Amino acid sequence: MTPPLIIAIDGPAASGKSTIGKRIAERLGYLFFDTGVMYRAVTWMALQSGIDLHDEGALTRLAEETPIEVAPASRFDGRVCDVLVGGRDITWETRRPEVDSHVSLVSSYSGVRRALSAQQRRIGLRGCVVMAGRDIGTVVLPEADLKVYLDASAEERARRRYVELVARGEPADYQTILTAVLERDRIDSTRAVAPLRPADDAVIINTDGLTADQVFDRVWALCQDDPP
Ligand code: DC
Repeated sequence: MTPPLIIAIDGPAASGKSTIGKRIAERLGYLFFDTGVMYRAVTWMALQSGIDLHDEGALTRLAEETPIEVAPASRFDGRVCDVLVGGRDITWETRRPEVDSHVSLVSSYSGVRRALSAQQRRIGLRGCVVMAGRDIGTVVLPEADLKVYLDASAEERARRRYVELVARGEPADYQTILTAVLERDRIDSTRAVAPLRPADDAVIINTDGLTADQVFDRVWALCQDDPP
């Protein structure tokens, strides 16, 4: 069997795209590319430089002009990949709560999406890639050989985020996380450009009640053209 050359994994915040995507990529010897980190990098840059987050033109220029480098993880500190801007490692900065709460707004701008999707598409078309995001199967790589859409209830996703933060020793409040997850779902799925939705030919997996190993097994079976 020949595994799919281009694999798209989409789904809402904290649905397990990175955990599963990274493992699938490792098993296949593929590149794992988490596209959310690019939107996070632009958001963090904008907050750092004091750019008005409602200024779509300024954010589009920032997305067009900032060279964002996404590289395989160089440290075993829980990261999925390295995120570098101008040679500076901003991996953990992009995970800060202030980025979490503004990234959906920044990623709703069509100019920002145009700039970042073009870079993502170039990388994806090289093949041997697992790309995770919200619009990979619908917009960035509609020709992907396998499209998976990972879903889970907001409560389950908030619980997973909560456990993750506690494990990293960071302050966490379940109710606050749940409210933020619901708000990001709302913005991501109702925006005008490339809203979050499964592609017509995506395999939808509801991960509620499944362990990460069980989700991995299902996706792996799809990679072997052996649906569970
Ligand atoms: O997957 P994540 O939580 O790191 O994504 C951060 C934000 O980026 C998310 O709120 C929506 C946006 N995003 C997007 O619009 N399109 C993508 N392909 C990836 C992420």
